[in-house]
Amino acid sequence: MGGKKHPSNSSITEEMDTRIASASFLLSILFFSGAIVSADFDFFYYVLMWPGAYCKKEGCCLPTTGKPELDFFIEGMYPAKNSGEFVSKCDITTKFYVNEVADMISGMYAYWPNITCPSNNGLSSWKNLWEPYGNCMGLTEKEYFGGALQLRSTVNLLSNLGRADMVPNDNDYDSSLIYAAINDAVGGKTAMRCVETSWWWFWSKSQLSEVWFCVDKSGSTIINCPTYPKFTCGDKVTFGKFTYDMMKDTSESFNPIQMPTSLSE
Ligand SMILES: *[C@@H]1O[C@H](CO)[C@@H](O)[C@H](O)[C@H]1NC(C)=O
Repeated sequence: MGGKKHPSNSSITEEMDTRIASASFLLSILFFSGAIVSADFDFFYYVLMWPGAYCKKEGCCLPTTGKPELDFFIEGMYPAKNSGEFVSKCDITTKFYVNEVADMISGMYAYWPNITCPSNNGLSSWKNLWEPYGNCMGLTEKEYFGGALQLRSTVNLLSNLGRADMVPNDNDYDSSLIYAAINDAVGGKTAMRCVETSWWWFWSKSQLSEVWFCVDKSGSTIINCPTYPKFTCGDKVTFGKFTYDMMKDTSESFNPIQMPTSLSE
């Protein structure tokens, strides 16, 4: 594990330099300011999810906080050891306080919602990430969520895939081609995860569902992961549609988080 490299390709390398530069800028701010206690971890996994696959497979609901962007969502950023094992539960005292992320809440509604049903406001997913994982990284809550949002926009996966003519329209792509395009977009080797979704009674398709990549501990570089999770996709990978009409609305109306009163969930 870990020794296998994506075939080298000059466009990847050039792209990587720019990516590294912007990631390193943001992460140096993130990692070297106001750091709190950091647990023993070697790097972190960064996971983006494609909501189209989730909606197709599980069904999904419109968040109570309004329409998110039709884009990749952040699933999480997890500290890990070189073995690939996640580091968690190192700090049981640093709780999630939503008012800490008040100034970036619209970005979180847009790119970090929880689209499981019934419609909800996303608080439980942020808490479920921060308390076991986020607070292990030596970052403040603001740095953790702000950094993850910034990294998502730096990588800008959906538009970069679009430039490679890979768009979420339920088309099937050769697995190796879409994988190469993802690596190119991220500027490092990634792990692509798929889910099997049924199309007709007996016919299933392998749909792009998640993209994992790694960032080094100092935060200066998107790196090849020391250990890649083992995911399998079919020879053809469907980049599924993701549209607002896929999301059921089980909420009454727009229901933003009440910042001043809801300190912690
Ligand atoms: C999404 O919200 C539901 C509650 O509506 C919760 O059970 C689930 O754990 C949340 N998802 C994540 C990833 O935390």
